[in-house]
Amino acid sequence: MAIMANFAALVLSLIFTASFAEERGIYLVLMEGEPVAFQGGIQPLQEGRRLDPNSEVAKAHAKNLVDSHDRILESALETGSYSKLYSFKHILNGFAVHTTPSQVEKLKGFPGVKLVERDRGAKLMTTYTPQFLGLPEEVWTQEGGDRNAGDGIVIGFVDTGINPSHPSFAYDLTNPFTSNISHFSGACEAGPLFPVSSCNGKIVSARFFSAGAQTAAQLNASVDILSPFDAVGHGSHVASTAAGNAGVPVVVNNFYYGQASGMAPRARIAVYKALYPTIGTLTDVVAAIDQASIDGVDIITLSIGQEEPPEDTVTFLSVFDIAMLFARAAGISVVQAAGNQGPGPSTVVAYSPWALAAAASTTDRIYPASLLLANHISIRGVGLSATYFGIGSSFYRLVMAKDALRPNGTFPWTPQYVEECQYPEAFNPSVVRGSIVICTFSAGFNNQTSSLTAIIDTARTLGFLGFVLVANPAYGDYIAQSIPLSAPGILIPKVTDANIILQYYDQQTIKDERGVVVDFRASAAIGDGRIASFSGKAPVVARFSSRGPDFIDRNRTATNVLKPDILAPGREIWAAWSPISVMDPILTGYNFALLSGTSMATPHVVGIAALIKQKHPSWTPSMIASAISTTATRYDNTGEIIMAEGLEIGSLSPSTYFDSGAGFVSPSRALDPGLVLSSEFEDYIAFLCSMPEIDQAAIKGATGASCNQTLSHPSNLNLPSVTVSSLNGSLTLHRSFRNVGGKPETYLCSAVPPNGTAINLYPPMFTIAPEGTQDLDIEINATVARNEFSFGEIFLTGSWNHIIRMPLSINPVSIF
Ligand SMILES: *[C@@H]1O[C@H](CO)[C@@H](O)[C@H](O)[C@H]1NC(C)=O
Ligand SMILES: *[C@@H]1O[C@H](CO)[C@@H](O)[C@H](O)[C@H]1NC(C)=O
Ligand SMILES: *[C@@H]1O[C@H](CO)[C@@H](O)[C@H](O)[C@H]1NC(C)=O
Ligand SMILES: *[C@@H]1O[C@H](CO)[C@@H](O)[C@H](O)[C@H]1NC(C)=O
Ligand SMILES: *[C@@H]1O[C@H](CO)[C@@H](O)[C@H](O)[C@H]1NC(C)=O
Ligand SMILES: *[C@@H]1O[C@H](CO)[C@@H](O)[C@H](O)[C@H]1NC(C)=O
Ligand SMILES: *[C@@H]1O[C@H](CO)[C@@H](O)[C@H](O)[C@H]1NC(C)=O
Ligand SMILES: *[C@@H]1O[C@H](CO)[C@@H](O)[C@H](O)[C@H]1NC(C)=O
Ligand SMILES: *[C@@H]1O[C@H](CO)[C@@H](O)[C@H](O)[C@H]1NC(C)=O
Repeated sequence: MAIMANFAALVLSLIFTASFAEERGIYLVLMEGEPVAFQGGIQPLQEGRRLDPNSEVAKAHAKNLVDSHDRILESALETGSYSKLYSFKHILNGFAVHTTPSQVEKLKGFPGVKLVERDRGAKLMTTYTPQFLGLPEEVWTQEGGDRNAGDGIVIGFVDTGINPSHPSFAYDLTNPFTSNISHFSGACEAGPLFPVSSCNGKIVSARFFSAGAQTAAQLNASVDILSPFDAVGHGSHVASTAAGNAGVPVVVNNFYYGQASGMAPRARIAVYKALYPTIGTLTDVVAAIDQASIDGVDIITLSIGQEEPPEDTVTFLSVFDIAMLFARAAGISVVQAAGNQGPGPSTVVAYSPWALAAAASTTDRIYPASLLLANHISIRGVGLSATYFGIGSSFYRLVMAKDALRPNGTFPWTPQYVEECQYPEAFNPSVVRGSIVICTFSAGFNNQTSSLTAIIDTARTLGFLGFVLVANPAYGDYIAQSIPLSAPGILIPKVTDANIILQYYDQQTIKDERGVVVDFRASAAIGDGRIASFSGKAPVVARFSSRGPDFIDRNRTATNVLKPDILAPGREIWAAWSPISVMDPILTGYNFALLSGTSMATPHVVGIAALIKQKHPSWTPSMIASAISTTATRYDNTGEIIMAEGLEIGSLSPSTYFDSGAGFVSPSRALDPGLVLSSEFEDYIAFLCSMPEIDQAAIKGATGASCNQTLSHPSNLNLPSVTVSSLNGSLTLHRSFRNVGGKPETYLCSAVPPNGTAINLYPPMFTIAPEGTQDLDIEINATVARNEFSFGEIFLTGSWNHIIRMPLSINPVSIF
């Protein structure tokens, strides 16, 4: 008996070892069968005729789907080997499950299962936290800054939540909302730091999705707050940029920086929190998109995304992209961040033609911080810091950190970190007190373990009158972005500037034979860096902004879609913040933050889409996207082609469409584009079906649609741009335009052919009636096999001053 029992125990422990050895992951699974929004097939939901998720029919269907998910899991997987996190049922039919890879294999072959994808996480699309140097402005655009801009539009934000007590989201009792948003029905999920009164009429709905996050990581209750409350600040920043109240004063460290306004300040806000300080999962993001779509938002804002292309499918068919496709099919505009992995080619993390991808630019605002040396040389730097009011002369002794260490001290710290002023204990207090201390950028910053916060703490603890963080020739120039500094300080990111400071310091500093400083005679003053000057050449495509060409797989095989789509302000943008700021200690306590990233460009585009939707309620998402693209400008404020920052810090070259998309957004023109090009769900399917690289089963698996129709060439998708990744000989493409200008107009068609091509347009001229449609043939011949993309454009110039500009990006590979 005893032996048997032991044997049984051994077998049991082996089984446990085997299953424990296999690490569980979260998987997203799409199923055959129609979700609630698309019962009876996909029809664009007309304005005011949105599906009622609370109808008996909808509820019964939703329950059937959930039951079917549970049944499949029960029959396909071993009991106890999995847990279901969500059922997706509104625009997607599927679920998220936490289980092992071997269980997933069983699911893959199971009848009814179309697609299985591992959750690889979701990330915020800010460049880097300002806390850590590594990377390097806001327009208080008055566009739509009036009392009604965006009224009647509900924007959904899938992000880190919202700070409900921020003035950008206050309900203005003096200007109550009167518009009808009966097309929207949300909910207010109250919870910690988010009382039910948070949904105040400006914030019309707030939900949070956490099953993925709670499964994928051990959450920390003090930061990963399980309510729509934003403990990070990112979600509040994004929401206020798109839809924050107009005219909110920005005051940071008691300094007034101006006023903040959302692009569509009267739009209503629906919050879908899906990312947490500890982790973000695609599972929570997809659950949020599925819910936002049935709630009836007009626009979904995705300043978040995945940092890598999908592992085992083409870029267009990942669950994230499919969720966006079905949100689009439900009549919702989707705007996503292009990514922050620039400036190399094919670094976009937004791929699909059914969503708009925003690239990030600078604005013309510069904060001219400076360090004035006592020899009258002034050095430009970065950082928003105050001067010393009331202290008398503002020139103070300059002391290099390494010359101010405790005498004969031995430190447990890496010397470079000491020179980065990370440790107050390392300094001789009597030397640094009352001085401006020069700290040196070094290994700790390079490895992203040192922080500006620590420098400021050191400065405060020891009574520095300021700090200067200089570049180090060993590392080259660093990238710094303007940041409000709570202690006087300045960042000198260029080695050449740092060398001027160090040379002056060495000349003035008297050392003994052992190299110990006996007299500090260098002095300097830190200028007030907080007063903006609006004189920069702008816009310029930001270095970090991800670049095209768009691609379909991990080999970065270029494809026939233009990405990014559009350029909008995304560097050093002031917007609302959450003072808790759990991910960025340097911003703790602030109500506003100056941030950079395609995350910041995205809500600018969203706000403009809201203004267009308000003016033209019947326009579909692709009409809105077309209006934004065809009216964008390729020129900057000096009248030259918009420049793009390159790999070398500070280097500029003329932008191509792969840097800027169609160009920089032009909101007033986008409201009245003249003509629009549109595509619908079936067009996107026909597009996918026409790509030789994608097999039809994969399309059926991801979208449920059969390839009944294909386009004669994938470049024939009716986009407001023409991209041909491989032109062999000659090709004739088609575009179809609709007149939304309200009156008959005559258009003249012209093309600037890309190098290596010849182009004919037919007809060369046409007159189009209001709401009429017109086809255009675009005949393209390869004349030189360049084997690289070159760029041109098509113009349709209307008799009522409408100009439709379509970017051409063509790679001629063969002239036969
Ligand atoms: C809002 O519009 C809907 C449909 O267009 C209508 O049924 C409803 O009565 C309107 N509500 C208000 C308050 O005007
Ligand atoms: C949770 O977060 C708080 C605040 O950042 C931190 O002090 C604490 O150490 C964290 N707890 C754990 C278990 O990580
Ligand atoms: C440091 O050490 C040197 C040589 O060992 C000695 O001459 C000097 O007095 C010491 N200084 C202090 C402040 O202890
Ligand atoms: C910085 O990171 C590099 C590798 O990335 C490592 O070799 C080095 O030791 C780190 N330096 C410090 C000071 O931590
Ligand atoms: C990518 O390239 C590798 C090596 O050239 C090839 O084996 C693989 O099949 C390619 N993958 C795709 C998705 O084209
Ligand atoms: C494609 O064909 C199938 C079968 O013939 C049909 O059921 C389906 O409705 C068609 N789909 C489209 C988008 O036309
Ligand atoms: C172009 O097309 C011709 C004829 O179809 C084919 O023989 C040739 O290999 C193609 N060239 C390239 C570079 O794809
Ligand atoms: C086209 O080619 C010419 C000559 O090679 C070159 O000077 C010009 O910059 C090219 N233009 C574009 C848009 O690539
Ligand atoms: C393209 O080539 C065809 C055949 O050679 C010719 O008929 C046509 O005029 C050419 N089109 C252009 C735009 O050069």
